[in-house]
Amino acid sequence: MNQPNNAIPGLATRQSALRLLDAVCRRGETLDQAMPAATGKLSNPSDKALAHNIAANVLRWMSALDAMIDSATRNRLADDAKARMALRIALAQVLILDTPQHAAISTALPLVHGGPRRLVHGVFSTVMRGLESGKLKLPEYPEIPGETHDRWTHSWGEDVATAASRAWANPAPLDLSFRSDDVGDLEGIKLAPKHLRMLPNLPVTGLEGFDEGRFWVQDLAASIPARLLGEGDGRTVLDLCAAPGGKTMQLASAGWNVVSVDNSAKRMERFQDNLKRTQLLAEDVIADLMQWEPAEPADAILLDAPCSATGIYRRHPDVLHCIGSRQIADRTEVQSALLDRTAHWVKPGGTLVYAVCSLEPEEGEEQIEAFLERQEQFAINPVASDELPAGLPPTESGCVRTLPDSLAEQGHVDGFFIARLLRKS
Ligand SMILES: C[S@@+](CC[C@H](N)C(=O)[O-])C[C@H]1O[C@@H](n2cnc3c(N)ncnc32)[C@H](O)[C@@H]1O
Repeated sequence: MNQPNNAIPGLATRQSALRLLDAVCRRGETLDQAMPAATGKLSNPSDKALAHNIAANVLRWMSALDAMIDSATRNRLADDAKARMALRIALAQVLILDTPQHAAISTALPLVHGGPRRLVHGVFSTVMRGLESGKLKLPEYPEIPGETHDRWTHSWGEDVATAASRAWANPAPLDLSFRSDDVGDLEGIKLAPKHLRMLPNLPVTGLEGFDEGRFWVQDLAASIPARLLGEGDGRTVLDLCAAPGGKTMQLASAGWNVVSVDNSAKRMERFQDNLKRTQLLAEDVIADLMQWEPAEPADAILLDAPCSATGIYRRHPDVLHCIGSRQIADRTEVQSALLDRTAHWVKPGGTLVYAVCSLEPEEGEEQIEAFLERQEQFAINPVASDELPAGLPPTESGCVRTLPDSLAEQGHVDGFFIARLLRKS
């Protein structure tokens, strides 16, 4: 007799992983958006983390997992068949998370309840035999989904696209930004002032200094935009699109008087938690930048614009399954509108830093080129090499572009484009 589903250990976690994958692959949601509903029934945070980890690895390794599944079926399973998703979930656990085979399959079969359990069992067993005999093997690194691979090859060349696959194979390191240059007893690689790079997957809340708010998690590339504004000496900066507050915390700890604006009340809750923990101060405003305006012009602006987020594909593998040229074109329009509306909120002689965590030139290089053509009062204020971490040189035009092959030896960085502009008049 079959075991009742609620008696199968770990099943609820795999059901949550399946719901997460459905949300990403069918509804185009991000994993972060899908987490609350998909994992709501799990009370243990480590189960939630496991569900996320299974789903993230299925998304990362999908094409290799599918090739194995297809090698073991006579009639190809539909891309969106539940049986295929259950098999992906089982195989990702065995091949990437080192889950024992019996645990992976016993929790995968109930996922297709009322469906082709025997087929799923048969395909799983055939793949396991193929792996044991050496006929099948997980490739060295996952494949970037076709449309993105083609786009990145076109924009950056084959070597960069291959570097992206390599970067995708391993979890990203843990980068911490510090309130001051004192990193305490924590050990890691220091790639910039107030920075420490540590091993991936470290439980950050357990690190010494977390409760006292000495640091926060922030990829090295994500820390560059605020670094380009230097010390604030009490001057005022508008941190536009500020939640969850990584850049606000950098600016506040560099002596800026920060006014932070974001239209997401939910993300601003995390912003407030972050500022409370780090005991840093900023004025927070929950408002749509297309409606709000400041009482007076500021000394500087940091616009961390909403974007495709394809540059953070390592930690968010879902983006490469949800983002295509239509979404990139939509985001590009929003960025131009935000740039045109907010740029004049900086005083003449002041600085505007524009940043996107995107690997798409339309949102970065081309966006700024078009802005400078529209707005003649602005010019690039070129970034010098000594303002950037070693190994990340400025571009020929004096901007910053990090790519999947940047700092590859040290564990890579997120893909960012950053421009520092001067308001001339
Ligand atoms: C890239 S994230 C910001 C990350 C943040 N700067 C940090 O370092 O932690 C982009 C943010 O833009 C916000 N946003 C998008 N459209 C907006 C708008 N029209 N007005 C205000 N905020 C907006 C989103 O809510 C999101 O938090």
